[in-house]
Amino acid sequence: MSPPEPHENLSPPLAAPVSGAPSMSAPIVTVHSTKLQGATAAALEICDLLDAKPDAVLGLATGGTMVGVYGALVEEVQRRGLDVSRVTTFNLDEYLGLDAGDPRLFRHFMDEHLFVPLGFNDAQVHFPDHVGARPRGADAVDAARQYEEAIQAAGGIDLQLLGIGRNGHIAFNEPGSSPRSRTRVVELHEVTRRDAAETFGGFDETPERAITMGLGTILEARALRVLAFGASKAPVVERLLRGAEDLDIPCTFLRERHGDIAVHLDIEAARLLP
Ligand code: F6R
Repeated sequence: MSPPEPHENLSPPLAAPVSGAPSMSAPIVTVHSTKLQGATAAALEICDLLDAKPDAVLGLATGGTMVGVYGALVEEVQRRGLDVSRVTTFNLDEYLGLDAGDPRLFRHFMDEHLFVPLGFNDAQVHFPDHVGARPRGADAVDAARQYEEAIQAAGGIDLQLLGIGRNGHIAFNEPGSSPRSRTRVVELHEVTRRDAAETFGGFDETPERAITMGLGTILEARALRVLAFGASKAPVVERLLRGAEDLDIPCTFLRERHGDIAVHLDIEAARLLP
């Protein structure tokens, strides 16, 4: 496998942005009483999008924050009787070094929480890795390039769901990631590996590398929906919404560089905001 590209990847986009950056305005921040209410609000917006645009392209995230979103989304899609057979999805990231079929792959998480319950087929869903899903026969660096091309070919992402790591990462854009970075192989940050260690049965067993959409890729989505719940996210939420851009805290690159950001928080995650 080729060595990972440095996080500080300042190479230009592979192609012109598909969406064009929307004009800037302050993020819309909603503080919900519970994380279930926050997750449900995001799910309802996705359902409204699917109602209006049955062939929407969704950018999806994994992690604890998203469990409630997908639970509410499945329920609401079924309640409204929406046809999701024309939806296309692109996940943000995937671990490297696990076997296809490993239950700790993000692909498995998505199957469990969203794709199987809604009957998505393999052709609808996309992951950036070369192991767990498409594109087949490519190494990770090829796969990263092909992922950018696949997003462009799908017409760009209509709505991108995002969680935030305690270290401020967005997808697996770890501290040091350029706001212009593209899909690439990355070394995972120690905090990220510590947060994942329980799933893998210890820090040393946790993957060291992953493949992730870049911040530049994410910023081209037409709408960004950021969710953060719990007190452990309060410091990065404060930086996301009030901090100056900082290479060490990647989420700080979202606020001033995108015109359609909504942020859903629970009370604990919002506790450092005025
Ligand atoms: C996952 C991802 C990560 C998570 C973040 C928060 O696809 O891209 O950036 O969104 O690590 O994870 P949780 O929700 O588990 O706190």
